Amino acid sequence: MVAYILDWLSLAVRWLHLLAAIAWIGSSLKYVWIDNNLRKPPQWKADKGIKGDVWVIHGGGIYEFQKYNVAPEKMPDVLHWVKWESYTTWLSGFLLISVVYYSQASSYLMVSDGIISSPWMAVAAGLGFLASIVGLYEILIRTPLVKSGPLFACAMALLLLVASYIAFHLFAPRAAALHMGAAIGSIMSGNVFFGIVPAQKAFLKAIENGQPPPQARAEFAKLRSTHNNYFTLPVIMLMISNHYPVVYSHAWGWLLVVAIGVISAYARHYFNLRNQGKSKPHILVVVAIAAVLLITLARVTSSTVALSDAANTVTDEQMMAVVSSHCSSCHAVVPTQPGFVAPPAGIVLANAEQVRAVSDRIMTVAVQSQYMPLGNMTGMTLEERQTLGAWLQRQ
Ligand code: HEC
Repeated sequence: MVAYILDWLSLAVRWLHLLAAIAWIGSSLKYVWIDNNLRKPPQWKADKGIKGDVWVIHGGGIYEFQKYNVAPEKMPDVLHWVKWESYTTWLSGFLLISVVYYSQASSYLMVSDGIISSPWMAVAAGLGFLASIVGLYEILIRTPLVKSGPLFACAMALLLLVASYIAFHLFAPRAAALHMGAAIGSIMSGNVFFGIVPAQKAFLKAIENGQPPPQARAEFAKLRSTHNNYFTLPVIMLMISNHYPVVYSHAWGWLLVVAIGVISAYARHYFNLRNQGKSKPHILVVVAIAAVLLITLARVTSSTVALSDAANTVTDEQMMAVVSSHCSSCHAVVPTQPGFVAPPAGIVLANAEQVRAVSDRIMTVAVQSQYMPLGNMTGMTLEERQTLGAWLQRQ
């Protein structure tokens, strides 16, 4: 019953998380777009302190956005804030990581023979990991390093590399990749909560008191928002990477996720420059070459379980003996593994025909990457993987 409720809860929270994230990133892209498309306003608007305007037709009506140099002469009665999108994304994300990883730590967060030996320790390590990364970023952003964009980018890449190494050595690979995404997402929400919103409050207070807005604070907030802009592509990649064992289950998964993140942030740099009117197409060429190199390198270095020729005589019965003892408790029409109410990923492995139907996937997740059985709960040995692999190879 608990598992059944958890499944529905996970679906509902994931739904909310996705919606909130779309609203957050959507609105942030929208405002970047508005800023970049502001056009010189007519004189009568310029006289009112308007910096630029943008006209849009949408949903059957004409909209006019205009941005002030500082603020209008008289502040409006209702001023909307764009902050709940970010907070809802973080809160629903935290709920989701709790439902999926923390409430089922032994299946999803821990590895069977890993450093962490109890679910509570694993949950504490997960929370500590997220808090430390946000803390370290908050320290880093207050150092003189922020004055140089490229230098700060290098420092960030280094921080994430160390973090990723630690995550992949503490947690199950899929949980590690997700914790990297959650850490970056938390940095981004932290930027809104610790920096951008307080700066906006200070801005409004100064306007109310008839004083000039605090310039340095506004610039710092702008810097945080620029960082968030560079984080958008990596964070989304990390959030969807948990569907791709090819990324997180690689022996160098920790390096791979950071490398993809750095490449995608560099791709974002091209678009940011282009929005400022500077076209540097060579950046996209470098991104494309780096991506191809990375994918090739990942293939060449992927650990392969040696499948000896002698094992080629594995019979259907021998293969099914392995599958029955290591897979079928979860991958059954009615799973017997506590916590499972339906066959995970819709995959039932009750006979050789069903194993054959998904042989490629099984080769990836149970032989080469050892992601299955989840958390190696059933203690599958290397020899058993070789037996399974030898049979799959013939299909
Ligand atoms: C403790 C439960 C459990 C056991 C045991 C288990 N699995 Fe899974 N399996 C899962 C879950 C949960 C998912 C879905 C996870 C995901 O989407 O990443 C899954 C997904 C899969 C997938 C689809 C993955 C993909 O990315 O396409 C395959 C194939 C698979 N399992 C094969 C196996 C094989 C083969 C075994 C035995 C060697 C096994 N599983 C043992 C829980 C289990």
